[in-house]
Amino acid sequence: MDAASTISMATLLLALCTLLASPEISWASITRHYKFDIEMRNVTRLSHTRSMATVNGKFPGPKIVARDGDRIIVRVVNHVKNNITIHWHGIRQLQTGWADGPAYLTQCPIRTGQSYVYNFTIVGQRGTLFWHAHFSWMRATLYGPIIILPRRGVPYPFAKPYKEIPIIFGEWFNVDPEAIIAQALRTGAGPNVSDAYTINGLPGPLYNRSKDTFKLKVKPGKTYLLRMINAALNDELFFSIANHTLTVVEVDAIYTKPFDTDIVLITPGQTTNVLLQTKPTLPNATFLMAARPYATGLGTFDNTTTAGLLEYLPPTVCLPSTPAKNLTLFKPTLPSLNDTAFAANFSSKRRSLANAQFPANVPQTVDRRFYFTVGLGTSPCPKNQTCQGPNGTMFAASVNNISFALPSTTLLEAHFLGQSKGVYTTDFPSNPPFPFNYTGTPPNNTFMTNGTKVVVLPFNASVEVAMQDTSIQGAESHPLHLHGYNFFVVGQGSGNYDATKDPANFNLVDPIEMNTVGVPAGGWVAIRFRADNPGVWFMHCHLDVHTSWGLGMAWVVTDGLLPCQKLLPPPSDLPKC
Ligand code: C2O
Repeated sequence: MDAASTISMATLLLALCTLLASPEISWASITRHYKFDIEMRNVTRLSHTRSMATVNGKFPGPKIVARDGDRIIVRVVNHVKNNITIHWHGIRQLQTGWADGPAYLTQCPIRTGQSYVYNFTIVGQRGTLFWHAHFSWMRATLYGPIIILPRRGVPYPFAKPYKEIPIIFGEWFNVDPEAIIAQALRTGAGPNVSDAYTINGLPGPLYNRSKDTFKLKVKPGKTYLLRMINAALNDELFFSIANHTLTVVEVDAIYTKPFDTDIVLITPGQTTNVLLQTKPTLPNATFLMAARPYATGLGTFDNTTTAGLLEYLPPTVCLPSTPAKNLTLFKPTLPSLNDTAFAANFSSKRRSLANAQFPANVPQTVDRRFYFTVGLGTSPCPKNQTCQGPNGTMFAASVNNISFALPSTTLLEAHFLGQSKGVYTTDFPSNPPFPFNYTGTPPNNTFMTNGTKVVVLPFNASVEVAMQDTSIQGAESHPLHLHGYNFFVVGQGSGNYDATKDPANFNLVDPIEMNTVGVPAGGWVAIRFRADNPGVWFMHCHLDVHTSWGLGMAWVVTDGLLPCQKLLPPPSDLPKC
């Protein structure tokens, strides 16, 4: 082939790729520019004032609003003393792994005074996601919504809501969370817990000395779309609004078959869109909305309740409305803090739409099968130190007994340059290294191995992972998040996964597609995905304390043959370690 025909062949392939990647409707897409200045701000909650890292002085941070197909360019400038990276949680980052954000996985941190431009395109996604810092526990204060609207002219698969409201849950700490995790990692103990949960940054009326409450003001007879995001560090949450039923229509930016529920369970890393139908006529009442944790582990946790108010406005806004007096306040009922049965039942209700327009493309066959134990354990106390973890050890966490150690340079660069030596090894175990009764009596030795190990997947392999909770240091629900992909949740159960019997019951018809799934406490969940996005992708527990202890691993997905199946080269301003 001569040069000209090589070029035209490349152009043709590129056009083909673009065609394959774009949905039926392809209208003009635009580029949206944002600037994120990371700067300190004093923020007061529960009558405590704390100087914290914010984006543009806002807490929670600003919304990113875009349409499917748009390019997003965010210039992040770090003016604080902490290291920063930003992760666009749930965005597929096709070919653009350099913009994914997890520190030491896909980029080195942005240091004080440095900047980095995140540049990526939203391809075939619409719904609610969020962005958050991905260095240490910096996401405690650095987070905000990502709202992706469908392409112009494409309707939702439900009636257009009257209004759309983001509801973002977070955790408030009276002290610097960086000090909390640093201390925990030094002593080996569990970290101190948060002082409050927040709704859109506000703790609400159920806390002492709390002055800030989120108020959702609604009109009667309307439908509101609540875009809920759990950005809390370490806690899954139940949420409910008194005397109102919610209709779940989307999770993790994937439409679901609609279902009604009074209570929503949302793990850190998950998003859930619900329709709220307001009462047909003005009620003589105000309604509390509240969230509190779903906690299954043995450790201490913040067991408080955050609340906001649902207030009805009179239908006319022209007349000065007489303030309503003596309104009854209704309160919601939430499940008990360890209601595992509710969790199992709720997650079984989530189903993909699986219709012609929104198919569930779940792999029907599997090329690579994995069985991963996930959970807590211990590591030995360093010499000449006393440790405050279980029996004088240090808390640790692992996948298949490998506690993930961050490298000092990035996995993605090592992979891209073909220089993995000294950075990572490719011998991550496909199965637990030594079998035991994972959900029964723990083995005597609960020590884990540290390592930076990956699984290499050939481009386009179909992958199945059965993730098994372990009862070492207590059975506990773990919200596992996969970067760069959505996966289908094909099965779940309690006890130990049975590779011979359980697959017969897998749902390969309309399983929910997500980017974060709760591995049930004392149970298992099975997921499938197609490895069609080249790069290095972190998979980890979205409870930050567990990630800090090593509950994660990474997939390296090789390039495909077509130009659109290859990882793009790194941007020139990629931070150096
Ligand atoms: Cu939202 Cu690696 O996380």
